[in-house]
Amino acid sequence: MKSLTEQLSVDGAGLTRAAGILANGGLVAFPTETVYGLGADARNGRAVAGIFAAKQRPSFNPLIVHVGSVSAAFSIGDFPESARALVEGGWPDALTLVVPLRLESGIDPLVTAGQNSVALRVPGGAGRALLTVYDGPVAAPSANPSGRISPTRAQHVLAGLDGKIDAVILGDPCERGLESTIVSFLGPKPVLLREGTADVSIPDLVRSQRPVGAPVAPGQLASHYAPRATLRLDVIEARPDEYHIGFGSVAGDTTLSSSGDLTEAAANLFTVLHDIDGEDVLRLAVAPIPDIGLGRAINDRLRRAAAPRR
Ligand code: TXA
Ligand code: MG
Repeated sequence: MKSLTEQLSVDGAGLTRAAGILANGGLVAFPTETVYGLGADARNGRAVAGIFAAKQRPSFNPLIVHVGSVSAAFSIGDFPESARALVEGGWPDALTLVVPLRLESGIDPLVTAGQNSVALRVPGGAGRALLTVYDGPVAAPSANPSGRISPTRAQHVLAGLDGKIDAVILGDPCERGLESTIVSFLGPKPVLLREGTADVSIPDLVRSQRPVGAPVAPGQLASHYAPRATLRLDVIEARPDEYHIGFGSVAGDTTLSSSGDLTEAAANLFTVLHDIDGEDVLRLAVAPIPDIGLGRAINDRLRRAAAPRR
């Protein structure tokens, strides 16, 4: 737990300080044209796990990756022509696009919830300025504790997260005040995943069948990201035919964290599941994970992975 949240100004000194904190794996809340984001370097799993811990999010839904330029976005996502056309001339405000993730993107699997797609946007406002100084991808959900409304002023951020994050940039109130419009370009036609204020016309746009406000993260479907192997939870002693994922004093064949550190375990979770999925493992067993703090999100993900397949 952090004790002091630095309050940084939107000038050279403040942005350089914010960039230094991000480079060291810290958490920085920054204003964008939509709402305040709570950012961490998207290549650093431990830092990203810190976002979920600070927000006390009970599940790992995928996060939007914020970059400072269209070319940076193209180096992370594989944009189909229709998506490329939308952003080539300058990324529109308040727009997030979901596209296939490039293999060499360097984005940590915790950001995408282990999926091979990524949500990208180039923010406006002071967020853009920060991403010009900090030349790296920044994963950021809205900067509010889980279950609370999105912040549009630095004061809102501090009301919810003071003492839990490293810094907040004191910018002007967010202009739009509503989260970005999210459009998926994974299928044959673009699909609107979340309504927002982006002012773009997208040919052939399909409105998602889900009611507005319903969960849009594919990770929220029960068994969607199950590994190929079957999975048993809360296992202290694995059977001989099981590959055992350990935690703390339960050593296992590999471990999420030998010291029992939940942040480290969260950062390792998707990488470990993904690596095992590439092997010829049929049965997995996972050590008990305490159901507190980030442990709740880890257990939520493990329960989904263990759910019966459709
Ligand atoms: O305006 C915004 O979008 C703000 C600012 C900070 O940029 N961010 C924001 O993030 O609202 P968040 O985490 O509250 O919402 C991100 C949404 C989630 O509903 C998530 O499910 C969806 O984006 N998302 C992220 N990656 C995705 C992916 N690969 N596929 C589908 N949905 C994705
Ligand atoms: Mg949010």
